[in-house]
Amino acid sequence: MDTKTLLAEYERRAELGGGEERLKKQRESGKLTARERIDLLFDPGTFEEVDKFVTHRCRDFGMDQQVVPGDGVVCGRGRVNGRVVFAFAQDFTVFGGSLSETNALKICKVMDLAMKMGAPMIGLNDSGGARIQEGVVSLGGYADIFLRNTLASGVVPQISAIMGPCAGGAVYSPAITDFTIMVKNTSYMFVTGPDVIKTVTHEDVTKEDLGGAMTHNEKSGVAHFAVDTDQECILLIRELLGFMPGNNVDDAPRIESADPSDRADAALDTVVPESPNQPYDILDVIHLIVDDAYFLEVHRFYAKNIVVGFARLGGRPVGIIANQPAYLAGVLDIDASAKGARFVRFCDAFNIPLVTFEDVPGFLPGTVQEWGGIIRHGAKLLYAFAEATVPKLTVITRKAYGGAYCVMSSKHLRTDVNLAWPTAEIAVMGAEGAVNILYKRELDAAQDVAKARAEKIAEYREKFANPFVAASRGYLDEVITPSQTRPKLIAALASLESKRDRNPPKKHGNIPL
Ligand code: HXC
Repeated sequence: MDTKTLLAEYERRAELGGGEERLKKQRESGKLTARERIDLLFDPGTFEEVDKFVTHRCRDFGMDQQVVPGDGVVCGRGRVNGRVVFAFAQDFTVFGGSLSETNALKICKVMDLAMKMGAPMIGLNDSGGARIQEGVVSLGGYADIFLRNTLASGVVPQISAIMGPCAGGAVYSPAITDFTIMVKNTSYMFVTGPDVIKTVTHEDVTKEDLGGAMTHNEKSGVAHFAVDTDQECILLIRELLGFMPGNNVDDAPRIESADPSDRADAALDTVVPESPNQPYDILDVIHLIVDDAYFLEVHRFYAKNIVVGFARLGGRPVGIIANQPAYLAGVLDIDASAKGARFVRFCDAFNIPLVTFEDVPGFLPGTVQEWGGIIRHGAKLLYAFAEATVPKLTVITRKAYGGAYCVMSSKHLRTDVNLAWPTAEIAVMGAEGAVNILYKRELDAAQDVAKARAEKIAEYREKFANPFVAASRGYLDEVITPSQTRPKLIAALASLESKRDRNPPKKHGNIPL
């Protein structure tokens, strides 16, 4: 066979993966193949594969008779919207996409290249876990990947798509990466599967219930996005990448927006209800302010009392963190704190300015929260905002009560621009609670308790249920008309372009984990 024919034969075998029959099964189960996923991820014709002919080295269990060029993982680089990105895609048709020694070496090679080039790393996971025939060398391969995930954290963005099984220790690579997307009905993640659970804890649970897409999006928070199909998953990765730089020294790409920077939206002037106890949807506020009303929400199904996600202001990507008065009154609890903190740290690591919208009645009281460690978890959010050195902007729309006032990117945490709407209420606590504590004895002795309480509440509200005490101290830079929020934020971002701030030199901080 001449070399040209030989090459064509190698190519054909590599591209055939586990064979027609298994590829057919993959498609019938509603999944794309590894190569189809790669083709969809990258701009057409830009994918350059590496190690296409690498084979495994296992000679036990008849493995020497089952050699597939590429060994079940497609690795390489390409362009996404013109920018260089590295990726691997596990091929379930080859030994169930399981991780062999050489399979891990291939993944590590592209991870090392991504680090060297300062380019994002995408993992498309679809694997039965460690290659059972190979034993410890496969486990070692996983650990080699985990090390690289950790070293790359905060240097290049890492995104994991779960597009099939992801079990055992394999889950820890996605867990270290910045964002995890799960495809509904075809993907699952767990450390130990239903059978082991049945043996150990006698619980009956299905794979879907234990670790399906919605379980990890709603309950555990392990996943940030749930999508219906493989196609949607890949398109979401492309979109997500559009909000982030290639690495921690670059800026995120800007895009021209036809949405005028000075657009003032009058609907904002009436969005906050008259009654302080009436909810409104902070997503409405966000949509009215950002470019083209476009907001890519992250962790949409988890801890809905805080909203996080990406948008653009004047064409510049920003990370938005907002209390959600429409869910649990926007209170901060354990899950909301951890969700917010992780997002703030991602944005800070990758030079994405932070815009905070605040309407928070405080931290959620109760034994569940206290025993669950709300102190420690709430401190994560505080720590994340405090250590962040990117441009930071805060808008208080209504309540900024108690410790939550301090935590939500207050002036005291080095926030650059703090704005408030006239509806802002900045106090140690709500007027009712404050009056019950301050005037307990007087109220007990009053003839008309209801009248006395109402008077005291009115007095306290008059004093604190407004932004002017904070403004008089300089804790707020400006009290603005709500409709002016977009122009004000865009102007502030422009003035912060040259911001340089840094933390004291240290090996690393000790965030309360
Ligand atoms: C080698 C594997 C494999 C594995 C699957 N296959 N998992 N080969 N090592 N880990 C092979 C199967 O033999 C089969 O080969 C093909 O992949 C497809 O598998 P099926 O079982 O037919 O597919 P399906 O019914 O869809 O079930 C998929 C599955 C199941 C749920 C993933 O295969 C499974 O439970 N596999 C084992 C999972 C596991 O226990 N892995 C180790 C986890 S511990 P043929 O030739 O028939 O097509 C771990 C430790 C990591 O990963 C630690 C890191 C720190």
